[in-house]
Amino acid sequence: MKILVIHGPNLNLLGSREASIYGHTTLADLNTQILDLSRVLDMEAEVFQSNSEGAIVDAIQAKVFDVLIINPAAYTHTSVAIRDAIAAVGKPTIEVHLSNIYKREEFRKESFIAGVATGQISGLGTEGYLLALRAAKIIALQ
Ligand code: DQA
Repeated sequence: MKILVIHGPNLNLLGSREASIYGHTTLADLNTQILDLSRVLDMEAEVFQSNSEGAIVDAIQAKVFDVLIINPAAYTHTSVAIRDAIAAVGKPTIEVHLSNIYKREEFRKESFIAGVATGQISGLGTEGYLLALRAAKIIALQ
């Protein structure tokens, strides 16, 4: 069972970027937690981060996976291209946000991705990715 985890723009700065919103965990530490839990759950996870919309679209199209876990970051609120790529590959997709996007600025309340996602986890910090991995296992076994 293959899980692709995509981190969108600026998430490479996790740990130092607006820590009061996004926390102190670095992306490297988060990825370690993701890879450790996926092993425990007997799944094969691949992690990918890009600041570029096109690179994220290319990854969704080219990589082989059963379930996609994606934090599209700022592209959540703008990207028809990422939404269309997810719809095109037709794989179960879990949208994750560290912060609660519904508690913040108005422009963050709209997700272009939610309409093509199986589900969304928002506001639970890095724990959201680990919950998404557990959900991915259940979804993939259905
Ligand atoms: C985010 C929320 C987005 O609005 C923001 O642009 C991000 C991170 C989150 O994880 O809370 O970069 O996706």
